[in-house]
Amino acid sequence: MSELNFHSYLVFALFLLAGVTFISLLFVRAPYGRYARAGWGPMLNSKVAWIIQESPSVLAFFIFFFLGERSNQAVPLIFLCIWQLHYIYRTYIYPFRLKGNKKNASLATATLAFLFTTINSYINARSLTHFNEGYTTCWLTDPRFMIGITIFFTGLIINFHSDNILINLRKKTDSGYGIPVGGLFKYVSCPNYFGEILEWTGWAVATWSLPGLCFAVWTFANLFPRALSHHRWYIDNFPDYPEGRKAIIPKLI
Ligand SMILES: NC(=O)c1ccc[n+]([C@@H]2O[C@H](COP(=O)([O-])OP(=O)(O)OC[C@H]3O[C@@H](n4cnc5c(N)ncnc54)[C@H](OP(=O)(O)O)[C@@H]3O)[C@@H](O)[C@H]2O)c1
Repeated sequence: MSELNFHSYLVFALFLLAGVTFISLLFVRAPYGRYARAGWGPMLNSKVAWIIQESPSVLAFFIFFFLGERSNQAVPLIFLCIWQLHYIYRTYIYPFRLKGNKKNASLATATLAFLFTTINSYINARSLTHFNEGYTTCWLTDPRFMIGITIFFTGLIINFHSDNILINLRKKTDSGYGIPVGGLFKYVSCPNYFGEILEWTGWAVATWSLPGLCFAVWTFANLFPRALSHHRWYIDNFPDYPEGRKAIIPKLI
């Protein structure tokens, strides 16, 4: 089988898996964070889980990217910087900012996430520097690139700001939950997920690639059901939860 066929099959498989994930997560809450529970095998400290499961997004992405013959070109290098801006923070800085030291991540979830981030890094990095020949400097002035990058950075700012609010809500030694306020929490329970979905939608538009679209669809499939669960959880646990706040999409859902 040629590598192009292998790559295409992986993208296709991930699209299918995103559909399965979406439907499953509407019924089963992924067992980490507030939904950590017995019956899912060994548990890990959440900081350790984040570092293990996200490391391929940094390391494997670098390797696959630089294996490509177009890895020294400007546009792929810009995409590399954007990707790593998100993932170096998410993998090696964000976990150390989290408060509490609980074992509330299941090894099973972390393992699945590790597999996903490895495959996702492969399909996206190889697309950038090996399979796609269209990323010449002309791409920098293409409306798809400019619009996509704007969406990506809007999402990044929303995601970062919302995660900060959650981190600051928790006291250093506490592991409890409060009602988050400020920023887009005024409108939705999970603006961090909203921002993350925007980021990878922007990536899909800016790269105009099937692997990019696949990752955006996957992120939606993963985070949309979890946002619905978080929203229901807040309503069930806080009688004074602000009415009118939606789950993830302001004014809509
Ligand atoms: N691309 C993807 O598919 C993907 C998948 C998963 C996550 N992510 C991103 O990774 C980041 C973290 O995801 P997550 O699922 O862990 O988010 P989360 O459930 O919102 O939790 C984020 C952190 O804030 C704490 N927290 C949440 N709500 C709180 C509250 N009301 N009061 C006090 N502390 C609270 C959590 O503690 P506990 O751990 O104790 O609950 C956790 O440490 C997000 O930015 C998300 O977008 C991306």
